[in-house]
Amino acid sequence: MISTIKNNIHLLRYEKNHDDLFEGCWPINKGVSINSYCLTGSKKRVLIDYVEAGADFDNDLASQGLKLEDFDILVLNHMEPDHTGALSTLFSRNPDILVYATRLGATETESLYGYKNVHVITNGEELDIGGMTLVFYATPNIHWPDTMMTYLKEEGILFSCDAFGAFGAYQSVYDDELTDSEWALLKPETERYYANIVASFSSFVLRGINALSGLDIRTICPSHGIVWRKDPLYVVNWYARLAGYAQGEREKEITILVSSMYGNTLSYIGTLERMAKEAGIVTHTIRIPDTNSSYAIEKAFRSKGLVVAAPTYEKEMFPPMAHCLDWFVRKEIKGRAAMHFGSSLWSGGASAEFKSYAEKLQLDVIDTFDFRGKGTDEDRKRITDAFAVLIERVKQD
Ligand code: FEO
Repeated sequence: MISTIKNNIHLLRYEKNHDDLFEGCWPINKGVSINSYCLTGSKKRVLIDYVEAGADFDNDLASQGLKLEDFDILVLNHMEPDHTGALSTLFSRNPDILVYATRLGATETESLYGYKNVHVITNGEELDIGGMTLVFYATPNIHWPDTMMTYLKEEGILFSCDAFGAFGAYQSVYDDELTDSEWALLKPETERYYANIVASFSSFVLRGINALSGLDIRTICPSHGIVWRKDPLYVVNWYARLAGYAQGEREKEITILVSSMYGNTLSYIGTLERMAKEAGIVTHTIRIPDTNSSYAIEKAFRSKGLVVAAPTYEKEMFPPMAHCLDWFVRKEIKGRAAMHFGSSLWSGGASAEFKSYAEKLQLDVIDTFDFRGKGTDEDRKRITDAFAVLIERVKQD
C-alpha cells in the first residue's frame, strides 16, 4: 500500500503475514506493518528503510511511475532484516545505489548483503536532495547499536525506524484517522511491541528522546505502525512513560501468571482477583503456556506487582512458567514486588527455582512456597495473607 504523506513523500506499507512470528518469536496475529518511505527530491530520489525478504514495493512504486532502479540513495536507519531482508534484490537491480548508514550499519550491510557502497554518516550531517534536506542523527540502541534516525528539515518529519512503532495492522495511516476500535488495538499492541522489542534499551530511548527534543518535530514516520501527524508528542510522551517502567515508575497493577496442570494451583486465582478488585487494584491474569509469553512480558513490564502461580513438575518449576521467567531475565523485567505459590504432590521444587529467578530478577519476594495437592485452609490463608501484603506494596507511591 502506498500513501502520500506530503508532496514527493510517500509511505510504502507492507503488512506482514499474521501467521508469522516477529523476530521469529513474537505472535503478530493482529498484524504488523513494515513501513518504508520514498522521497523524490529534485536532485536525488531516496528510499528510507526497506522491507523483509520476499516482499517488495514494485507495484506501489509503479503507481507513482517509479521503480527500484530510479533511486539514488537508500537510507538504512537500522539493519534488522525486517527492514533489510529484501536488499539483495534491490542491490542486484540497482547496484550503484548509495547507502547512508552509521558505521556499524555499514559493517552490517557488508556482512549481511556483501554491499560496500555505503556512506557512513556523522551525527547531524545534512544531505540536500533538492528542495528537501535530510539530517541524520545517530540514536544507538533504539533498537540496535547501529540505529540512526533521519529528519526532514523543511517538513519537520522524523523517520524514526523502530522507535515510536507498534504491532497491529491499521486501516488508518495517521493518528487523526484512527477509529475507536483501532485505538483499542493500538494501545496494547504498542505496549507489547515496546515490552517485547525495545524495553531492554529503555535508557537509550530516554537518551534519544532527550537528544532530539530540540527538533521541531511535526510528523513522526516510524517503520512499524501508524504515522503521527496530528500529535507526534503523544507517542513521544507515551514512549517516555514506557521507558519509565524500566526505571521503576510503574503502574499500580498486578500481573498474575498462572500455570496449572490439574486445576489445583489455578483454584486460588479467583480469590486473588476478587481481593485486588475490592482494593481497587487492576490485575492482568495470564495463563502460561496457554498464552504466549509475549503477553506476559507486556503486562508484567507495566505492573508493580507480580504473582507467579506455578506448580512443581518433576521436582522443578512447571517448565513453561520457567521458560516465561527466563524471558523476564532476558528482557530485564526486574524489581517487582512478587510472590509465588504452587501445587506439588510427591516433591516440591518450584519454589526453589522461583527463588533462583527472584535473585536474577531482583524481586522483592513476599512469600514463596509449594503446597501439597489441593492445599489446606492454612495454605489458602498463607496465600491470601501474602497477596494482601502485595496489594499494599503495589498501592505505595
Ligand atoms: Fe523493526 Fe529492530 O527492526
